[in-house]
Amino acid sequence: MAKKILVTGGTGYIGSHTVVELINEGYEVVIADNLSNSFAFVIDNIEKITGVRPYFYKTELTDAGATKAIFDKHPDVCGVIHFAALKAVGESVEKPLLYYHNNLFSLINIIQAMEEIGCHNLVFSSSCTVYGQPDELPVRETSPILPALSPYGNTKQIAEEMIKDKAGISELKAILLRYFNPIGAHASALIGELPIGVPNNLVPFITQTAIGKRKELSVFGNDYQTPDGTCIRDYIHVVDLAKAHIISLERLLDKRNKNSVEVFNIGTGKGYSVLEVINAFESASKVKLQYKFAPRRQGDIEQIWADTDYANEELKWCAERNLFEMLESAWKWECNLGTLNL
Ligand code: UD1
Repeated sequence: MAKKILVTGGTGYIGSHTVVELINEGYEVVIADNLSNSFAFVIDNIEKITGVRPYFYKTELTDAGATKAIFDKHPDVCGVIHFAALKAVGESVEKPLLYYHNNLFSLINIIQAMEEIGCHNLVFSSSCTVYGQPDELPVRETSPILPALSPYGNTKQIAEEMIKDKAGISELKAILLRYFNPIGAHASALIGELPIGVPNNLVPFITQTAIGKRKELSVFGNDYQTPDGTCIRDYIHVVDLAKAHIISLERLLDKRNKNSVEVFNIGTGKGYSVLEVINAFESASKVKLQYKFAPRRQGDIEQIWADTDYANEELKWCAERNLFEMLESAWKWECNLGTLNL
């Protein structure tokens, strides 16, 4: 019998790629998503890629009853990967209560419903944002958690604390994955990042500019204390990131976890500046990108990249795809978007 996994936010960017990897590994998948930042066609495309249609429920996970109803329909769920959350840093500054309400109530409801059916395995989508601007680079899992720079970042910090507190007094076991900057798309170009409205993140803005949907990219700041003056991030291919979730889930299911809550950095261990990303994009796409330098974006940290030794050694996981492949797949996805019936 295939093991059944609930993926919240499973039609979203990272969620959909993880659902594909789960199905490929023989899991049965139940998706719960409110489609607030994703589209129902993603389910069709997951089916096109894998040949299997996951269960899908359009659900508000902030509603405890609606959340519990999914578990009541699928009491054999043995693990949960919880992605569903709002993630726009700027918007979270404008609407802090929306972010605290959405990101924290949904987590509380999920953990409560898991306990009620006796499911104790949780993989949680955290973020490198919990480190703020670290004093030492690369940043390690043991590095200090500095005050969050945005309500979004704070929801991730609080969520980590909530999970630790609950695991301390119950059977809950969790792996918290601190993602760096996920980019790229599935090789099929049938799923990828599809922001609604003007993209906040760098790579969708780049691909939309290159294809002509946007006039030019603004590079936020060129006076940082970095070699070329632009910010540095650790970009990771979304498929590599998705695979880290399957490995983490299996670690919990096989009871190979060493503590009730474990934390892993999921990045490549390499930092690239915004200008390096632009150059890599131009060589991957053969398109000259229109861009200009603009003032720094509020809340941006200067530079961060991961120490991935712990994830590499403990999870036996390693990012495989390089920056060129990330941007090549992102471009293929953008070019294919016009052919999808949205
Ligand atoms: C942020 C969060 C991350 C979160 C992610 C989700 C921090 C430190 N990071 O990532 O935790 O998961 O958002 O949305 O809070 N840039 C431009 N022009 C643009 C867009 C971006 O120059 O039009 C630059 C930014 O200044 C930054 C880099 O590109 O240096 C990456 O930005 P972005 O893709 O938005 O991701 P983060 O802000 O790093």
